[in-house]
Amino acid sequence: MQQQYVIILAGGTGSRMKSDIPKQFIELQGAPIIIHSLKRFINYNLNIQIIISVHKNYKNHLENIFQKFNLETKNIQIVFGGDTRFQSVKNGLNLIQDLDAVVGIHDSARPFVSLKTIQNCFETAAIKGNAIPCISINESLRKISNNINSSINRNEYKIIQTPQCFLVSKIKKAFEQEYNFVFTDDATVLETIGEKIVLVEGNEENIKITSPHDLLIAKALIHEE
Ligand code: CTP
Ligand code: MG
Repeated sequence: MQQQYVIILAGGTGSRMKSDIPKQFIELQGAPIIIHSLKRFINYNLNIQIIISVHKNYKNHLENIFQKFNLETKNIQIVFGGDTRFQSVKNGLNLIQDLDAVVGIHDSARPFVSLKTIQNCFETAAIKGNAIPCISINESLRKISNNINSSINRNEYKIIQTPQCFLVSKIKKAFEQEYNFVFTDDATVLETIGEKIVLVEGNEENIKITSPHDLLIAKALIHEE
């Protein structure tokens, strides 16, 4: 089996959360969100190589957390994030030289990714070159354009999650392009160089904690576990 890597993105400041510290460091049931996220991947593969792309002002904070939670750090490397998510990913990818490996790119703000989703993504990417987790939309949707709104068929749309997994050779090549503001995730970056995106099943609890409301949901979810 190829070597597996995961890049955990923690380069943002969580402006929409409006908290004192970036949201990935807020504690949920006694441990920071990023610790919960990390543990999901370590549980999947004890030998996975972990790269954390962290905001430059919070590297010390992160290292203190590792000590406090006794986290085995021999497989963990830390890089500074950039001004955009794109740059934070790129800084992480720069550490990976093994072009045959598979890399997952995961938002630290998604601590509820399931083992099954991680497995789905890494295994499919190893065979097909990439795997992007997604879920269906439960709500009705309307499209607004030029002040006119119209109904759309929600079955034609999916909600996209992380970890988005890739063959290292392909995703490194995709990240050689210039940044474009449409790059809100990594699948979009890969698609732009002409690769076909492979969707796999994600899990509904795999929310991206973004707003104070999401934190309430997160507290309920962690309690349930
Ligand atoms: N991220 C990153 N580097 C950036 C921006 C975001 O690594 N320059 C990471 C965040 O830390 C987060 C993930 O990308 O884990 C998803 O981004 P988002 O939810 O938008 O987090 P923030 O950008 O921190 O939040 P906000 O947009 O509310 O400021
Ligand atoms: Mg953001």
